[in-house]
Amino acid sequence: MREVKKALSFILTVEFWRMGIFWTLSLVMSYFQLFWQRVFAKKPNAYPRCPPQRIGTKKPICVITGATSGIGAAAAYDLSKEGFYVVLVGRSSQLLYKMIEWILEKNKDACVEAFEVDLSSFQSILKFKDSLEKWLLDSDMHVSVQLLINNAGILAASHRLTEEGYDQMMGTNYIGAFSLTKLLLPLLKNSPVGSRIVNVTSFTHRNLFNVQIDKETVVGKCLSRSKQYPFSHIYEFSKLCLLMFSYELHRQLHLADESCKVSVIRSWSSGNQYHARTPFLYFPYDIYSAQPSGPFAIT
Ligand SMILES: NC(=O)c1ccc[n+]([C@@H]2O[C@H](COP(=O)([O-])OP(=O)(O)OC[C@H]3O[C@@H](n4cnc5c(N)ncnc54)[C@H](OP(=O)(O)O)[C@@H]3O)[C@@H](O)[C@H]2O)c1
Repeated sequence: MREVKKALSFILTVEFWRMGIFWTLSLVMSYFQLFWQRVFAKKPNAYPRCPPQRIGTKKPICVITGATSGIGAAAAYDLSKEGFYVVLVGRSSQLLYKMIEWILEKNKDACVEAFEVDLSSFQSILKFKDSLEKWLLDSDMHVSVQLLINNAGILAASHRLTEEGYDQMMGTNYIGAFSLTKLLLPLLKNSPVGSRIVNVTSFTHRNLFNVQIDKETVVGKCLSRSKQYPFSHIYEFSKLCLLMFSYELHRQLHLADESCKVSVIRSWSSGNQYHARTPFLYFPYDIYSAQPSGPFAIT
């Protein structure tokens, strides 16, 4: 009975209806944009595939966060088939173990390793970076990462703080991806062939207008102060931050080195566990370089 009451009061919130109406409109817009590009765009929206490139005899490393379900799980399986040594990042060792089993069951030649990381904790990300470097050295792999996919993300209905005192959603969706990318940049730069960073964002940032971007907002303090937890706003804002970070990172990396590319995927999926193939093959998706006219990284 308590659960029903809780669900009912959730459905009666402004945030719930805002999410239902605005996100549906954004999704319809994404479908329309995709249709328009396919039918009328002069340049076809098809990007060259960038298959993994072996380093001598060694398989290239791909790190994928949130690899224990949904888009991350499907992408991990696909990338293992493509020839990457896939590093799964997730917060539950049990789910990671299950995921390895699932991939190996479907592809017995897959090379997979898993690390338990809580992306809402900076300490956990730092520990992961050290463990990853040690693992690469110990297993005689090339000490580099060819592909990093920042996919982990949450939509939390209630307010929680991370260990460092940030809003949980901002911490996971943006600050975690930012910190991980920053810490793994030396490994990405160490790749003898152009490395790639793919950030999984969302179409929902289109619903934000006139947002004040300052430190208070970025760490989630300003948004979560209101009486009712504005979860849809915070989700949209976290994805907007990730998008802006992708643009800026791409710009800065290109000033120094043309070979490292940053891409963004705005996707929508049914949310089922372990899609048969990467869902962006089936659902409306938009995958583009962080620089509008820049090079593209992954399809
Ligand atoms: N599905 C959609 O319709 C949609 C639309 C637009 C954008 N996206 C974005 O696409 C990405 C993947 O979506 P999805 O639907 O595949 O999500 P999902 O099935 O809920 O998977 C999210 C993954 O992120 C992991 N994760 C969550 N918090 C974490 C943390 N603190 N540390 C480490 N891992 C954490 C989860 O691990 P646990 O299993 O341990 O929770 C899970 O593996 C997200 O960034 C989402 O915002 C999804």
